Amino acid sequence: MQIFSSVPRIISGLGCIEALGDEVEKMGGTRALIVCDQGIEALGLVTPLADSLNRSGVIHAVFSGVQADPGLGLLNLSREITDNFEADLVIGLGGGSALDAAKLISIMLTNEGPADAYYGINNIPRPGLPMILIPTTAGTGSEVTNISVMEDPKVGLKKAMISDHLYAKVALLDPNLTLDLPPRLTATTGMDALVHAIESYVGVRASVFTDTLNLKAITMIAKNLRQAYANGQNTAARENMLNASCLAGMAFCNTQNGLDHAMALSIGSKYHLPHGLATAFILPWVMEFNCIANPDKFMNIAAAFGEDIEDMPDHEAALLSVKAVKDLLHDLNISYKLSDYGADAVHFEGIARAALSAGQLISNNPRQVTEQDVVNILKENL
Ligand SMILES: [Fe+2]
Repeated sequence: MQIFSSVPRIISGLGCIEALGDEVEKMGGTRALIVCDQGIEALGLVTPLADSLNRSGVIHAVFSGVQADPGLGLLNLSREITDNFEADLVIGLGGGSALDAAKLISIMLTNEGPADAYYGINNIPRPGLPMILIPTTAGTGSEVTNISVMEDPKVGLKKAMISDHLYAKVALLDPNLTLDLPPRLTATTGMDALVHAIESYVGVRASVFTDTLNLKAITMIAKNLRQAYANGQNTAARENMLNASCLAGMAFCNTQNGLDHAMALSIGSKYHLPHGLATAFILPWVMEFNCIANPDKFMNIAAAFGEDIEDMPDHEAALLSVKAVKDLLHDLNISYKLSDYGADAVHFEGIARAALSAGQLISNNPRQVTEQDVVNILKENL
C-alpha cells in the first residue's frame, strides 16, 4: 500500500501574491502573523503581502527574527509577538528556514509542547493554525512538505518533525519574489531541488505519482537552472524553477530523500556548510554509487538532461546522468571535490556514522549502504 498526500491548494504565476488577501479571507483569517527573516524584510518582500492583506482588511504583524538553520530557541524570540498578537493564521515567507519556522510557530500556537517532544514522525497532537506558505527561493519545496527541520539545542543537531499537521492550507508561488536571489543562492537552492527530485525518483519508496512529479521536475531544472543562475531577472526561468522545486517537494515528502541528504546532514554540520551547497556537491558521488541499483531510472535522468543514450549499453547510459550533473555543477561554479570545503579524512568515520543514523533517509536509498561504503565514497572524492 502507498499513500500520496499533499497540500490542498497551490496558487502560482507571476504576480499571484496579489491574491493573498482574498485567500486569507476565504480561510476566515482576520489576524495574520507573517514569519520571515530580516534579509527578506530588508529586501522589501513583505510589502506586497502587506498591501494585499490591507486591501482585504486583514490585520497583520511581522515576526522577522528567523535565522538561518533555526532551532527551537526561535520560540523564545517569537514569544513577544505570538503572546500579544492573537493570530488566527500564519503566513511563512522566505527560504526553507523561514517556512520551517512558520510551521513550528503555527503548531506551537495550538499545542502545549514541549516542542522537542514533536521531533520524529506523527508526534504532533493537534493541527496548528492554518498556514499559507510563500517561498522566495526555488529549492527546499518546504511550502508543500509536511516536514519542519529544526536544530535541537540539547544535542546541537538538526532534526525533523514530520506530521500532516505541518501541511499548509495554501502554497503561493509567485516568481516575482525570487528575482533578486543572488546567483550563488540560486545555484545552491536550485541544486537542492534537483537532489530532492533525483533522490525521491530513484528511491525505493517511489510511486507512479512521485515518479511523474519528479521526472518533470528534473526535466525543468535541467532546462532552467543555468538560465536562472546566469540572469536572475529571467522570469520564465525563475517561474519554471519555482514550480519545479514545488513539484519535487510534493514528491519527496511522500518518499523521503536518500543517501545524499543523509551525508549532507552530517557533512554540513561538521563543516558548517549551507544545506543546498552540501547536497549539491555530494550528488554526483551518490548517483555514481547508486547507479547499479536502478539503472533504468538513471537512464531516464540522463535523457531528461538531453544526453544521447541511443544504442548504448544500459550501465553506460545510466552513468551519463552523473556526467550531466557534473557538467551542471561546473557551469554553476560548484566544486564537487570535498577537500575544497575544508574536509579532513580523520573525520570520515564520524561523518559516515552520523549519515547512517538518518534512518528515514537511508531506508529510501536505492542501494543498501554501510559505514564503510560512505567512508569509501568520501575518500574517492576528497
Ligand atoms: Fe534538501
